[in-house]
Amino acid sequence: MRLKWMAATALLLTGVSSVALAQTQAWFDKSKSADERARAAVAAMTLDEKLTLILSFTDPEQLAKQPDSIVSPEVKAIVNKEHIRGSAGYVPGIARLGIPAQWQTDASIGVRVQGMARTALPSSLATAASFDPAVTEAGGRMIAQEARLSGFNTFLAGGANLAREPRNGRNFEYVGEDPWLAGQMASGLINGIQSQHMVSTLKHFAVNDQESQRTTVNVTIAPEAMRQSDLLAFEFILEQSNPGSAMCAYNLVNGRWACENEYLLNKTLKQDWGFKGYVMADWGAVHSTVDSANYGLDQFTGFPCCGDRQPYFAPVNVKVALDKGDISQKRLDDMAQRVLWPLFSTGVFDNPAKVGPIDFKANAAVSQKAAEESLVLLKNAGNLLPLSGVKSVAMIGAHADKGVMSGGGSSGVTPVGGNPVEGQLEPKSWPGPVTYMPSSPVEALKAELPKAKIAYAGGEDIAAAVALAKSSEVAIVFVTQWMGEGMDGTLELKGNQDALVAAVAAANPRTIVVVQSGGAIFMPWKDNVGAILQAFYPGIRGGQAIARILTGKVNPSGHLPISFPASNAQLAHGTIPGFGKPDGVAVNITYHEGAAIGYKWYDVKGYTPLFAFGHGLSYTTFAVSDARATVEKGELTISAAIRNTGKTAGKGVIQVYVAPADYKAVGWEAPKRFVAFRKEAVAPGATSGTFTQKIDPRLLATYEVADNSWRIRAGTYQVLFGQAADDLPQSVTITLPDLTWSAVHK
Ligand code: BGC
Repeated sequence: MRLKWMAATALLLTGVSSVALAQTQAWFDKSKSADERARAAVAAMTLDEKLTLILSFTDPEQLAKQPDSIVSPEVKAIVNKEHIRGSAGYVPGIARLGIPAQWQTDASIGVRVQGMARTALPSSLATAASFDPAVTEAGGRMIAQEARLSGFNTFLAGGANLAREPRNGRNFEYVGEDPWLAGQMASGLINGIQSQHMVSTLKHFAVNDQESQRTTVNVTIAPEAMRQSDLLAFEFILEQSNPGSAMCAYNLVNGRWACENEYLLNKTLKQDWGFKGYVMADWGAVHSTVDSANYGLDQFTGFPCCGDRQPYFAPVNVKVALDKGDISQKRLDDMAQRVLWPLFSTGVFDNPAKVGPIDFKANAAVSQKAAEESLVLLKNAGNLLPLSGVKSVAMIGAHADKGVMSGGGSSGVTPVGGNPVEGQLEPKSWPGPVTYMPSSPVEALKAELPKAKIAYAGGEDIAAAVALAKSSEVAIVFVTQWMGEGMDGTLELKGNQDALVAAVAAANPRTIVVVQSGGAIFMPWKDNVGAILQAFYPGIRGGQAIARILTGKVNPSGHLPISFPASNAQLAHGTIPGFGKPDGVAVNITYHEGAAIGYKWYDVKGYTPLFAFGHGLSYTTFAVSDARATVEKGELTISAAIRNTGKTAGKGVIQVYVAPADYKAVGWEAPKRFVAFRKEAVAPGATSGTFTQKIDPRLLATYEVADNSWRIRAGTYQVLFGQAADDLPQSVTITLPDLTWSAVHK
């Protein structure tokens, strides 16, 4: 009897196949909208089937230890059979209705499953530096194809917290400090992913900007500031890429946990922005049954991985809340509808993922291209780069003979070809192990410069490195800053790295520094070296991309998606609350800087950063031309072109900012805002086509909490054109009229 029942439940829950009977049902009808299909499916569900959709499992071994009253033996058996080991999560399907299971995998640079070798893109911050959403879109397509061929249909990719805190250990997973740039670059990724019939996830919602005490920190921030910065980035992403899910964060926001935060989830995301997908929780970020459900959480993800491990959305607990009337049946239906909606809207339902062979060679080429578009040439005194006709090169430090660095934590991909520093570097456990991509810059440079004598020195022994640098025409020093999830860092390089660069630069005036870092670092040696190439974490073909840029095979075209501060004294917060302490200390951080993040903060304070937002050099030179700005019916439209004024083909980036005559009088947080950008490939002496864009009016407005509106204040504004936040030589004066409109999406 029991066996029979088990078999029936298994049939009910597995995602293996659909039942012929169900196929005549409305949710199989492709001519219907995703809304209609999801609604029809929910209407056909039993209570238990709906409850199946709102709980995602991980780690079958831990799950097996849960009481049967919380997770039935049948469900445990199914999870044990179907969950892809080492992946983030699994939601059983409902075979009776043909609803597929959800196989959930991290994250934004590729498929992360422990022990499963896959292709890694450059870090998200790196590809944000491409200033070209087509680059992140191509990356998204590639990693989604790998994910589908690995058996997944849901990607936890789409990290877009603003780099408010430069020491945040996860900045490398995000897309910079500016809402418009972050919006475009993350939308590119999500559009690429979802185009392959895969659900993608906007995360971590919201203001999860420090990793120190991430599960206990309370962020205090005015709603106006949030709507004009961190939330504005998410709003753009939602509009431009329609992610199927949004992941609420670990932290508290204004005293409420992000995963039961009515302001964030119900009011902003769902009511004002009209989000149709589901809110999933970060792993271990749920703290209640009733409040979570009522304030906006739709799916408890990753049970029983972490946090307080309480089964808040286990059927037995949700049933009690339903019986008592604490959660309404209507709300449960809404949760189920939201989880189902993206399965239809992205085509997961109609195009099931199937495990199959992956073309790693082709995919590595996509990653290399992304790196080549993204590395940022920060300095190039006397045109030291590109290297040409050099006979001897000293390459020094950072295991450049073996590979390039990647970031740690749940976004870390096990690279195809393995980790060449396996077991050699600390930390060896979470958020490590420190993983390098098997793409050696030394080997790649040898391939590019077959006639040159290229020698490598490890860098631990500064004297040996100096001797090698002295006997070589050019010295290239590699420095690293390792960052990872669950930790914040410092902007000072660790160990002897600054001393090493200084000593090598003193020995050889033709010294180039290649930086691999999570985000910004300090460079006390900046003025003493010839050239600096910022590589972030450049992905599975990072070594090749670095070598091709150093030798001029590729003309660098990346621009900084973050400001590099010149000192700790320039940071908005002297210290990160709870930094360096064991997890679990309740701390508060008040974002007194409001929406003035990154370059906006530097402008407010009058600080000169080490390198400005938007900065990036090329082997040619560019000038923005034909800058125009017009206002019609209160709408600002800009246009411009870019001219290649040098002798080499290259890609230039037009950057447009707006600056009110008096920023305080119009209620802005800072003297200028970034409003538009466009990357163009231009031949020497040629001018690109004209780039025209209507400026999103929210970038000119303030959010008015009193009546939930956006408001532009009448006045004179300058539209500034150039190639970096600190290089805006052209301006057009405009007059904007007063304009107010609702913050609720139509
Ligand atoms: C991270 C998320 C990730 C999840 C699942 C959490 O620790 O914060 O970004 O998607 O784990 O692995």
